[in-house]
Amino acid sequence: MSVLRSVVLGCGAYLPERVLGNAELASTVDTSDEWIVQRTGIRQRHIAAVGELTSDLAIHAARAALANAGVDAQSIDLIVLATSTPDQTFPATAVSVQAALGIHHGAAFDLQAVCTGFVYALATADSLLRAGNAKRALVIGAETFSRILDWTDRGTCVLFGDGAGALVIEAQPQKGTREDRGLLTTHLRSDGRHKTKLYVDGGPSSTGTVGHLRMEGRAVFKHAVAMITDVIDAAFKATGYTANDITWFVPHQANKRIIDDSAHKLGIAPEKVVITVDKHGNTSAASIPLALNVAVKDGRIKRGDLVLLEAMGGGFTWGSALLRW
Ligand code: UT7
Repeated sequence: MSVLRSVVLGCGAYLPERVLGNAELASTVDTSDEWIVQRTGIRQRHIAAVGELTSDLAIHAARAALANAGVDAQSIDLIVLATSTPDQTFPATAVSVQAALGIHHGAAFDLQAVCTGFVYALATADSLLRAGNAKRALVIGAETFSRILDWTDRGTCVLFGDGAGALVIEAQPQKGTREDRGLLTTHLRSDGRHKTKLYVDGGPSSTGTVGHLRMEGRAVFKHAVAMITDVIDAAFKATGYTANDITWFVPHQANKRIIDDSAHKLGIAPEKVVITVDKHGNTSAASIPLALNVAVKDGRIKRGDLVLLEAMGGGFTWGSALLRW
């Protein structure tokens, strides 16, 4: 039997030039390098320059992904961009990326699932590709969270950073077995009962302002590991794979303690876990493609590897994706 699978052709990423280290942050807010490293694993984050927009980061990442894939922008007929920090309320940041790449065909839209955005975008693009609505897609996670942080709130401003990452994926016929290349299974979840635990206190329909990020950190932490293991167990159940079969675990990068606890609970060996939270902080929807790009560029992730992705964030939303690179 032949089925269509969404196969990764290439990846790319972009980080703004400015690096903000913990020590510098500690000079403006009541915190310390020691506290941040111990509680989160974060040592630094990148911050977009004045006038540098989410679309600018996304365009850099998209161009890098197209170059890595060795394909022309004109072959892209779908752009799904995950962000909670769009350039404007509308139009979608994805159409700015589309225009900058000179693409005038196909469809481009934004998708918002906060830190789970990239997994949601990947699952959405995968469905559209497998249904025959498009052939080759750019899936992007891009954020400028620095613009929605309350820089006087030490409980949140030390956690987040800016950046963008992108994958080029293409519908390809495969055998229909779990040995296929491409996305093998995706699992998306949300539970709006938790919507006040991590949110932004503004928006076009409520305050008419952009607002600032607010979080009950401990409450989010408490739920995170259970939600992450829930969707990963679903991926294992759907494919018959186990933690031992995974080549690389590329989780959303929010907090090293959450990543370590999840990997431990699932029985995923620490040497299989890709960690970038120390250098990037939490870049929300951009964190997974940024981490994928690091592990591909340094030679860890190779063609044929079984790669497990997961994320959890505001909503709550959470999700997983299992793919063969
Ligand atoms: O990506 C979306 C999902 N988001 C997450 O996954 C975030 C989940 N939550 C977390 O990662 C952690 O809860 C935090 C890193 C946000 C906080 O770590 P924690 O171990 O849960 O600390 P806490 O909130 O319980 O705070 C402990 C203490 C408090 O002081 P008291 O009340 O014990 O005196 C805080 O006021 O640490 C204090 N604190 C800080 N101290 C120095 C909070 N933030 C800071 C800070 N520097 N930046």
